[in-house]
Amino acid sequence: MTEPTESLQASWNAMRLQIEAALERAVQLSGECPPRLREAMAYSLLAGGKRLRPVLVLMACEACGGDIEAAIPAACAIEMIHTYSLIHDDLPAMDDDDYRRGRLTNHKVFGEAMAILAGDGLLTLAFEIMARDVRPAAVAAACCADLAFAAGACGMVGGQVADLEAESQSTSRVPLNEADPQTRAAYAVELEAIHRRKTGRLIRSALTLGGRIAQADVATLGVLDHYGTCIGLAFQIADDVLDVTGTQEKLGKGVG
Ligand code: IPE
Ligand code: IPE
Ligand code: MG
Repeated sequence: MTEPTESLQASWNAMRLQIEAALERAVQLSGECPPRLREAMAYSLLAGGKRLRPVLVLMACEACGGDIEAAIPAACAIEMIHTYSLIHDDLPAMDDDDYRRGRLTNHKVFGEAMAILAGDGLLTLAFEIMARDVRPAAVAAACCADLAFAAGACGMVGGQVADLEAESQSTSRVPLNEADPQTRAAYAVELEAIHRRKTGRLIRSALTLGGRIAQADVATLGVLDHYGTCIGLAFQIADDVLDVTGTQEKLGKGVG
C-alpha cells in the first residue's frame, strides 16, 4: 500500500506541473506589454517556489468534489499575488533582500522602479485572470472579493504594515527574555495578529477559493476557513524559525 505522505507528494508534484504550465501561459502577455516588464514579471513568477498556495487551491477544490481544471485560474491568481508581495517585500524600502527563490531579487536585476511595476503588473493580472476565467460569473465575483480581502489592507498589506510598525518599535521595548509573563503574553497576541494578516489570510484564501470553485456549501467553506487560518499561522511560525535555523542554500533566500 502507498504511504499517505507518498501519495500526497505525488499529487503535489502533479499539481505543481499543471500550475507551472498555466503560469507560463498566463504571463505571455500581448505585444502592448513592454518586453522588459514582461521579463521582470516572468523572472520572479517562474522562478520556482513551493507553490504552496496554488496547490492548496487545487487540493481544496478536489476535496470538495470540484474539477481541478476549473480551479487553475484561481491557483494562478493567488500565486501572482504572492509573488508580487515577495517582490515588494524584498525592496530596499522594506526588507532590502538580495536573494529570493535561489536567485537575485527582482530589483537587483531589473532596478527598483521596474520591480515595483512588475509587482503592480502581477497584482492586476491576478484579478484579470480570476474575473475572466473563473466560471460561473457569480463564483468569479466571490473569488475576486475573497482574494482582494486576503491580499489587501485588512490582510497581507495590513499585516506587512503592522510588521514594519512592530519592528520600528522593537528597540524601545523590553526584550522578550527580560519581559514579565504579562508582557510576553501581550507580545504573543501582537505577533499572532501580524502573522494572521501578513501570511495567514492569503493561505486561508487558497482554501476558500478552492471551496468556492467547487461550489461548496457555507458550512464547508467555514471548515476550510478555520483550517486555512490554522495552517497559515503555523506556516509563518515555521518560516520565522527557518529564518534563524535555516541556510540560504536550502531556503533560496537570505536568512537571519
Ligand atoms: C515566503 O513564502 C514568504 C512568506 C509569506 C512567509 P513561501 O515560503 O511560500 O515562498 P515560496 O513561494 O516557496 O518562494
Ligand atoms: C514575507 O514576509 C512577505 C509577505 C508576507 C508579503 P517575511 O519578510 O517574513 O518573509 P521572507 O523571509 O522575506 O520570505
Ligand atoms: Mg522579507
